[in-house]
Amino acid sequence: MSRVVRLCPDAGELARAAAAEFVRRAAVAVAAGGRFTVALSGGHTPLRLFAELAGAPPGAVAWEAVHVFWADERTVPPENPESNFGAASRALLQRVPIPEANVHRMRGEDPDPARAAADYELLLRRVLAVPAAAVPRLDLIVLGMGADGHTASLFPGSDALAERSRLVASPWVGKLTARRLTLTLPVLDAAACVIFLVTGADKAETLARVLEGPAGPEPLPAQLVRPCGELLWLVDAAAARLLPPAPASPV
Ligand code: 6PG
Repeated sequence: MSRVVRLCPDAGELARAAAAEFVRRAAVAVAAGGRFTVALSGGHTPLRLFAELAGAPPGAVAWEAVHVFWADERTVPPENPESNFGAASRALLQRVPIPEANVHRMRGEDPDPARAAADYELLLRRVLAVPAAAVPRLDLIVLGMGADGHTASLFPGSDALAERSRLVASPWVGKLTARRLTLTLPVLDAAACVIFLVTGADKAETLARVLEGPAGPEPLPAQLVRPCGELLWLVDAAAARLLPPAPASPV
């Protein structure tokens, strides 16, 4: 794993940097293998990335070769304002020429979240042509981080953090009094690249702990994401205010 932390002046610059990474990685993946597989997260931070991608010049991304998945989903129907799919669809997917067949949402509306999780695992294996014993390797997973250190829908203390065989879990999240659907750590760690997007002063203390602190007996979920590929943290100045100053670059 190679970990890079890149400081962006503000959330707007961070979104532009994230979009540039998305565009570049998509071009490399499509050139190398004919498609780009990416999992998106929910929450507010990715919305500016989605807007940047939606506004990118035509042809910047070969959308016909992109397959979009989700890192997690709320257990709500797609038309619910809480839906991660719904948010990405409105901000990005309805505004770019991505084939509908390439958009692979988690079925948050299923009254049986465990079944929805199992179905999504089958979908991942089918679309990515991954046999039962293997873990799919997505080209890119875009993650956020909550102020409590959660990522995707892997929350502190969750049993899902110990999941090593299933690709998708449906953990109960006490603080939300709801179940969520989430990729498990084996999938996050199998990715060619994971990009965390973290903005805002409310994340500063947790970001410093995740990036600089010891894992300790109860590591935060965001500390447990160790992709075999690249790990890039895009953080804005407000979220990074408690990080040690970056070493001066050699003159
Ligand atoms: C979700 C996200 C979640 C998010 C963090 C940060 O479904 O809510 O996947 O993991 O990334 O909560 O959210 P913000 O970007 O809104 O701070």
